[in-house]
Amino acid sequence: MSCLNIMVYIASVEAFTVDGIIIKGGLKLQGEISIQGSKNSVLPIMAASILNSGITVISNCPRISDVWDMTELLKDIGCIVEFEDNTLIIDSKDVYKTEIDNALAEKIRASVVLLGPLLARFGHAKMSRPGGCNIGSRPIDIHLAAFEKMNAVCLERDNKVYVESTKLTGANISLAYPSVGATENIILAAVFAEGTTEIHNAATEPEVVELCQCLVGMGSRILGIGSDNLKIIGVESLRDIEYQIRPDRIVMGTYLCACMSAGGEISLKNCSISDGVGYVDVLCGMGAMLRCENDSIIIKSDRRIQAINYIQTNPYPGFPTDMQSIFMSVLSKAEGTSIIEETIFNKRLELASQLKKMGANVDVLKNKAIITGVDYMKGTTVTAKDLRGGAALVIAGLGAEGITTIEDPFYIKRGYVDICSDLKKLGADIKWEKANQEKEKVILK
Ligand code: EPZ
Repeated sequence: MSCLNIMVYIASVEAFTVDGIIIKGGLKLQGEISIQGSKNSVLPIMAASILNSGITVISNCPRISDVWDMTELLKDIGCIVEFEDNTLIIDSKDVYKTEIDNALAEKIRASVVLLGPLLARFGHAKMSRPGGCNIGSRPIDIHLAAFEKMNAVCLERDNKVYVESTKLTGANISLAYPSVGATENIILAAVFAEGTTEIHNAATEPEVVELCQCLVGMGSRILGIGSDNLKIIGVESLRDIEYQIRPDRIVMGTYLCACMSAGGEISLKNCSISDGVGYVDVLCGMGAMLRCENDSIIIKSDRRIQAINYIQTNPYPGFPTDMQSIFMSVLSKAEGTSIIEETIFNKRLELASQLKKMGANVDVLKNKAIITGVDYMKGTTVTAKDLRGGAALVIAGLGAEGITTIEDPFYIKRGYVDICSDLKKLGADIKWEKANQEKEKVILK
């Protein structure tokens, strides 16, 4: 195209807004907040609501963007979904579509667990490959290999996934990796399958347990719940259910780490130490003082954080990968050197580059981060790249000197109802601000 026929219009200077979280660090935290329901529990249970062709009521549902996106997916296939007082009411009687809207499917990772229930109820489903945070490779080969063992035909082409089966049959399935999503998808596909489906090397995360408990409440027959060997005996149909979601163990850990980073003493309601399997012991090793009172955890942090020689992320009950970024932030100011090995989603280590802008001393070698604690970190402008990395930057800002501005904070809304409001209740100086920016808008024709 020659330069003559390129018409360049300089539109009038357009003001548009770019959100940002602004934190003034250095304030100790105190006070009490309540922990929201679990994102990673509610999403597969929303998918399970397709199976009963009736009413599913889900209470303690977190008001997060991943739930709104999953709601849109369910509405798109014909569900009626209402939300009031942290309770979702889903009517799946009139589901009429098994082809998932591509744009919606690509917004969240959890869209993939719609395949199982659609396959179970209708015998076919089609969708774009799922989206989700860019935290590393996120294939779905384990999901599809399991469906094929259950007498389904699976096809991946042009970023689309097609699954079909004249009749799903029970199978003996050994997972190459204890994938959370694959375990959930297989369970959802198996509830109406002919015969018994066994899953070996199944994921044992609390979110998988909750899905099983909810399905049993709907009339499924599932044995070995909580273990890595599950047995699902096919039934004819499922009934309506009312189910209350458990607290979000990752949000709980985030706020415990907020207190470690800023110092002070806070109380977290509607949760318990048992929700912190895999990381609470590490927090104590860092110097956290924890105690339980009824349905609350109280944490006190009034001294220099101690480094942890070695942390390795692992499937449950190991150290959760979702806590890795948040611990990297806290350990950046520890006394001594800590090593974190990320064995699940290695792109999460890219948070180090943002923390280094704040003065952290973190070297990343392959899938390990070597964190040499510094005495203090300085506020500056940093950018969130994913959900837990964004939360980790908030945690770092609380414990830094001066002002930290976090750009692209929308990732955080995927999993936290209102991180600013929660931390403000605990005494933090934090706000979500629309930062006006002026830019010339150039249109090339
Ligand atoms: C779930 O993701 C969670 N998301 C993630 O939380 C969490 O980090 C992850 O489990 C691990 O606990 C939801 O529940 C919505 P995986 P999922 O399948 O199911 C490999 C957050 O921040 N794999 O257990 O996608 C995969 O590449 C999010 O809340 C295959 O190779 O995780 C990864 O290395 C982020 N083939 C490992 O398994 C497959 O078919 C774990 O993935 C599937 C997975």
